[in-house]
Amino acid sequence: MASIAIDGPAGAGKSTIAKLVAKKMGYIYVDTGALYRAIAHYLVINQIDIENEDALAKACEGISVSIQYEQDVQQVYLNGENVTPFLRTEETGNMASKSSAKAPVRAALLDLQRDMAKEYNVVMDGRDIGTNVLPNAEVKIYLTASSKERANRRYKELLEKGENADFGKIEADIIERDERDMNRDIAPLKQAEDAVLVDSSDMGIDQVVDVIMSVAQNALP
Ligand code: DC
Repeated sequence: MASIAIDGPAGAGKSTIAKLVAKKMGYIYVDTGALYRAIAHYLVINQIDIENEDALAKACEGISVSIQYEQDVQQVYLNGENVTPFLRTEETGNMASKSSAKAPVRAALLDLQRDMAKEYNVVMDGRDIGTNVLPNAEVKIYLTASSKERANRRYKELLEKGENADFGKIEADIIERDERDMNRDIAPLKQAEDAVLVDSSDMGIDQVVDVIMSVAQNALP
């Protein structure tokens, strides 16, 4: 089986790009952020204090996360319930950024991610796929963009959905999340030594996909 790992900060366009690359390659797209968000969702609804080590460890023991594909779209199940519709909120994202720094949360998801890559050809996106989850991935991409550009994309996305958006707050949240994801002790976000850096600040989606496809075509038999 072959793996394409795409890591990078929040809002860099990883999921949009990874989905398109997966389609072109005929691979399965694995959105690992959604797995962290599923655990975060559990922690929020059960009001678990993540700074309480015992409470967090106990909660993680009682959590089972799994993935299924329905019409080629990833669905995340938490203790047997499909929680996919609840995962994209700001609250869940912010909790995921905090709780994903905790060892029991990361440990709870490691095997699931590795098993997916053993069973299928995957394009897997996240923060530590190339550095930690799949260190032997055939293709590693570090996809980033300036915080201004990432905030701008998110701002437009919210306006298009008819939601209220405050550009300054969105950018501040992005910077805060980068800070947390890059500076945590366990599996921090960083470019793997053998990853190809793609800065999409001034690139369109198709251009980014083309760059990654050419890296993949050179690396894969
Ligand atoms: O990519 P995302 O915004 O859905 O991810 C939500 C949070 O989960 C992110 O702030 C960091 C964490 N995460 C992680 O620690 N490791 C991954 N492989 C994917 C996400």
